Amino acid sequence: MEGKRRTKRWPIVVGVAALVVVCAGAGFWAWHEQPSFCNAICHEPMDNYVEGYYHDGALMANAHERAGTTCLECHEAKLSEQVAEGLSWVSGDFSVDAEGNLATVGARADAKMCARAGCHDFDEVAASTEDWGGEEGVNPHASHQGTAIDCSNCHGAHGASYMYCNACHDYQVPDGWESPR
Ligand code: HEC
Ligand code: HEC
Ligand code: HEC
Repeated sequence: MEGKRRTKRWPIVVGVAALVVVCAGAGFWAWHEQPSFCNAICHEPMDNYVEGYYHDGALMANAHERAGTTCLECHEAKLSEQVAEGLSWVSGDFSVDAEGNLATVGARADAKMCARAGCHDFDEVAASTEDWGGEEGVNPHASHQGTAIDCSNCHGAHGASYMYCNACHDYQVPDGWESPR
């Protein structure tokens, strides 16, 4: 949004920060646990994430919805982030891409988010993609890339997944995934 009127916004900004802090201690957390919370106030940009989570069968987020995983089981809620998000929403300080997702994304899927107790056992995951595409020794989950990459290099939660290895190789690409070649 152009034409910011910062001087008139500061009372709102202070109000939002205060609201978040006050509500956090008033049973607000229970509502905040629900996916509907995310877009109840912030329609733009949250509608798209909530809509995709419930209804787009091609998305990894939807596969998790079907498995009963909530937004906050992936997105660990930290008060500092809640306040920061509230502030950038109030000041209109964000932009969205053609799909309606946020253009600047801070969240990443890494081993800490995904390969933890109650979620994915990474040894099992790696075993499921051994000899990928029938090529001996090839495994997207165990390669010379090691820990230089994390899950988000390939798996998109709210958007298409991407066959990262194919920037240099020509391995099998799963249905619906994007690939550099
Ligand atoms: C399976 C874990 C998972 C679930 C469930 C999930 N997300 Fe995400 N979310 C991610 C990951 C990973 C990203 C990083 C971008 C991507 O992969 O699409 C992300 C990115 C985002 C972003 C972009 C802004 C940022 O933090 O950088 C928003 C907003 C968001 N998610 C909201 C939601 C909402 C709302 C829900 C529930 C309706 C939800 N997410 C459910 C994993 C998840
Ligand atoms: C280099 C790319 C790449 C990276 C990085 C990656 N994956 Fe994968 N992952 C794949 C591919 C390819 C598949 C197979 C998808 C298919 O068959 O549709 C897959 C499948 C999976 C599956 C489904 C396995 C099954 O049982 O069907 C899970 C769960 C998974 N990955 C978790 C992870 C986690 C957790 C991380 C990060 C710690 C990660 N992946 C990192 C490429 C990657
Ligand atoms: C930046 C480029 C690049 C990326 C990205 C990359 N590789 Fe490689 N990879 C190479 C190079 C270079 C070699 C050595 C090739 C050679 O010696 O013929 C190699 C070798 C390999 C080999 C040994 C067998 C062979 O083909 O020589 C395997 C297996 C392999 N890569 C798997 C992967 C997997 C799986 C990924 C994704 C997680 C990946 N690579 C991502 C560049 C890359």
